[in-house]
Amino acid sequence: MTTNIAVLVSGRGSNLQSIIDNIESGYIKEAKISVVISDVGDAYALERARNHGITDVFIDPSDYSGKQEYEKEIMQVLEDNDVDLILLAGYMRLVGKDLIAAYSNRIINIHPALLPSFKGLHAQQQAFDYGVKVSGCTVHFVDEGMDTGPIIIQNCVPVLEGDTADDLAGRILEQEHKIFPEAVRLFVEGKLKVEGRIVVHT
Ligand code: GAR
Repeated sequence: MTTNIAVLVSGRGSNLQSIIDNIESGYIKEAKISVVISDVGDAYALERARNHGITDVFIDPSDYSGKQEYEKEIMQVLEDNDVDLILLAGYMRLVGKDLIAAYSNRIINIHPALLPSFKGLHAQQQAFDYGVKVSGCTVHFVDEGMDTGPIIIQNCVPVLEGDTADDLAGRILEQEHKIFPEAVRLFVEGKLKVEGRIVVHT
């Protein structure tokens, strides 16, 4: 059975691209990106979707009275597209409780730091400014907290002498493009089991 995926984005969409490429190459099998949804009208990610014949939808949060109404519209689009799995690929909003409840353990986020360190925005800059010697990225299920859900995969990278925050972000991004598709493949193949906070790879 094909897993129908929705990818939520806000920006350039390089992680979206890595998922598209890994589906097209056959690394992720039995999966299809049914829709890409953005909260930003001119997000380059939308163009990437169109380039691959994927339905793209811009939902403007400012058209809605609040988060709940805005996410109701997202849920309608998810339902219309028979979505089984939601990926947050550079989606810069906290997901509300109704959407999380509707897709419990079926929403996966990529975060550019080794959680639980450096949650929230500009995680690479936060890690760089803190002076860590190792950072990395985390793929995790989404729960009601900010970047607190059960961890699926992490990879680490060194912070090298003379690095800028941008150098570090680039090194982390390379790893993001590996572990996000890997996590999606495991999910699609039914190989992830959530036991409390622990994700077991079966
Ligand atoms: C990625 O580094 C992703 O980890 C990060 O935004 C970037 C999006 O890049 N996400 C967050 O910071 C979420 N809190 P992309 O649009 O090229 O995939």
